[in-house]
Amino acid sequence: MATTPACPVHYDPLDEATLADPYPVLAALRAQAPLVWHGAMECWLVTRYDDCVRVLRDHEHFARDPRRLGRTVPEASLSVQVLDPPHQANVRSAFMTALHAQDLDTLQDGARRAIASRLEALAPRPSWDAVSELAQPVALHAIADLLGVTPPPLSEWVQVSDTIMQSMDGGLNPDLVEPGRLARERLSTLVASWFTTTGRPAGLLGHVRARTADADPQLARHLVHTARVMFQGGYSTLSAAIGNIVDTLARNPQAQRALREAPQLRATGVDELVRYDGPVQGTSRLAATDITLGGITVHRGQTVTVLFQAANRDGGHFEHPSRLLLDRSPNRHLGYGWGTHACLGTIVAQRVLLALVDALANHPGLLHPAGPTRRRATATMRTFDQLAVVLQP
Ligand code: HEM
Repeated sequence: MATTPACPVHYDPLDEATLADPYPVLAALRAQAPLVWHGAMECWLVTRYDDCVRVLRDHEHFARDPRRLGRTVPEASLSVQVLDPPHQANVRSAFMTALHAQDLDTLQDGARRAIASRLEALAPRPSWDAVSELAQPVALHAIADLLGVTPPPLSEWVQVSDTIMQSMDGGLNPDLVEPGRLARERLSTLVASWFTTTGRPAGLLGHVRARTADADPQLARHLVHTARVMFQGGYSTLSAAIGNIVDTLARNPQAQRALREAPQLRATGVDELVRYDGPVQGTSRLAATDITLGGITVHRGQTVTVLFQAANRDGGHFEHPSRLLLDRSPNRHLGYGWGTHACLGTIVAQRVLLALVDALANHPGLLHPAGPTRRRATATMRTFDQLAVVLQP
């Protein structure tokens, strides 16, 4: 039985061509084998839909928490994202309960109005940047609104969050590690202040803060650490998703017309837009035991990287996977993950993205590309640094 066959496909998530369009190389990987060993990344790549679901579902054999393999994790990193069941359960359920107590209709209406007035102001311009002038401010305000906190100044926040995002590629570029640590400290100070100020924050954080009061000290710490992930992770993925959707729509005027003429397509459409070109590229797990997947033995302690976007274009699961089909249903894509670590903010993201699509569809202009576009060189997040567009009839 093969153990570590070399990756026969050249896959560098940071090369120009892959950043511009990762789907051809992901298709080549998917066609190769169920698992391929990537020597430079020191992990197994999983690209087929069913195999990805199997890894994500099987938290007994595929660990998120490195401590299960005897490795250490800084205490400040112990959030819902790192803890596995059963330790994850109380943290996840505290956030789910707090989320379900929120008035998401009001959040969605607020986001729709804010986006509409932004589009109104941007529309007369011959070109504008959908990243800095739309995605970032909309995402920051939506997440702050959800949490019930005052948002930090946009430009300062973008710098902190972008530095954290870049540092996730620290394995590929060690120069990113120290700036990432400093940015995380700034994020910790900000979030800690929301737990200590007098007066209770409203919104989701108000609920979570009340829960910390009667929680044991360890759970209370995990809740605070998870609030950081909700704020920074929620902001950065939402902001990236908005940019990707604007880009997809700007290249597809027909899809824009369809969303305008058939409002019933908007709910299925926002899910399809995330399947088609979602922001989160992948996630990793550690084999907790030797385990066979697709006829290949993964040894205990080896890293398995699930490539969501490869699974989302798997023709074995999706009909016409490379086509944007706004009425695709069912659409059990992996853009929000799967299983015990699936996205905690899915329902919020769907509401804000629906607000975006509504506001765009209600605007008399259509989005068109209008100049420079630059993908950010990150392996974990598919996002833009710059995306010039225009709204024209
Ligand atoms: C379109 C926007 C979004 C996308 C595509 C997205 C995608 C994802 C994905 C793929 C995962 C799973 C990662 C894994 O398995 O390791 C995840 C986890 C998570 N997401 Fe999102 N996300 C989005 C927005 C949000 C928002 C708005 C929030 C918060 C309000 C949020 C909070 C979280 C949290 C806390 C986790 C960790 C859950 C856990 O490990 O138990 N996300 N997200």
